[in-house]
Amino acid sequence: MDTGTAVLTAADLEKTFYSTDPPTQVLSGIDLTVNRGDFVAVMGASGSGKSTLLYCLSGMDRPTGGGIWFGGRELTDLSDREMSRLRLLQMGFVFQQAYFLSNLSVRDNILLPALKAAPKERGAAEARTDELLERFEITHIGGHGITQVSGGQLQRASICRALVTRPSVVFADEPTGALNSSMTTEVMDALSGVHRDGGTIVMVTHDPSCAARADRVIYLRDGTVVDALDLGLWEPDRAAEREDRLLGWLRGQGF
Ligand SMILES: Nc1ncnc2c1ncn2[C@@H]1O[C@H](COP(=O)(O)OP(=O)(O)O)[C@@H](O)[C@H]1O
Ligand SMILES: [Mg+2]
Repeated sequence: MDTGTAVLTAADLEKTFYSTDPPTQVLSGIDLTVNRGDFVAVMGASGSGKSTLLYCLSGMDRPTGGGIWFGGRELTDLSDREMSRLRLLQMGFVFQQAYFLSNLSVRDNILLPALKAAPKERGAAEARTDELLERFEITHIGGHGITQVSGGQLQRASICRALVTRPSVVFADEPTGALNSSMTTEVMDALSGVHRDGGTIVMVTHDPSCAARADRVIYLRDGTVVDALDLGLWEPDRAAEREDRLLGWLRGQGF
C-alpha cells in the first residue's frame, strides 16, 4: 500500500463484538487516511461507533477485519507488548476525563509518560514538561494536586501529557465532553494550537463548534463512514461561517 505522507491508514476496517449474542457488528468497510499535519474530526449519532473507531485506530482495541497502518507498520502484526510501546512513543491521548493519578502533582502526571518512554533521560523529560506547561499557560498549577485545578486547566494538562513524548498522532475522544462552554473554547484553542504547530489530530466529538476547528470532518452512520466535509485550515475569524457550513452539512446527515 502506498502510504505517501499518510501517518495513519485504515482499509476495509471491521469490528464485531462476539461477547454479545448475537454478535454486534459495530464498524464495517471503513477506509480512512490521515496525513501528517491533518486535523480530522469524527462525528455521528451516539452509538454510531465513533469511540470504537478511535480505539481501533489507536491500538487500544483490535479490529476483527481489515488493516490499519501506523507510520508504515501494520498494527495487527504487532504483539501486545510492541503495541504498548508504539502507543507510548507515537500516540498521545486526550479523553473526556483526564485519568490523572491523584497522588501526583499536575506536573508529575505530565512528566510520567516521558519518563516511561526514556527512563534515563529525566532532564530532557523535565525540560519538555516545563516547555509544555508554559506553552499551554499552566506553569502556575504545575505543583498543584489534580483536585485543585479547573476542568479546563486539567484538560490543557491532558494535552501536555499527550504531547510530552512528541507523538505522531494525538487521539482525542470527546475532549470537551465534560466542560462548560468557556472551558470548551479554552481547550479547543489549545488543540488548534497543537494543529497550527504541525500536530496531527484525530478527534471524536458531538459538538459542531469543536468539529469546526478540524480540516476535515467525517460522518459515521451505523459504523460506516457515509460522508466527509473538507473545511480547510482553521481560521479563527471565520469561525461562525465554518460552523454554519458544518451545521448545514450535519443537518443533511440527519444529525
Ligand atoms: N465491548 C463492547 N461489546 C459489545 N458492544 C459494544 C462494545 N463496545 C461498544 N459496543 C457497541 O458498539 C456501538 C458503538 O459504540 P461506540 O463506539 O461507543 O459509539 P459512539 O462513541 O459513537 O457513541 C454501540 O451500539 C455499543 O453498544
Ligand atoms: Mg463515544
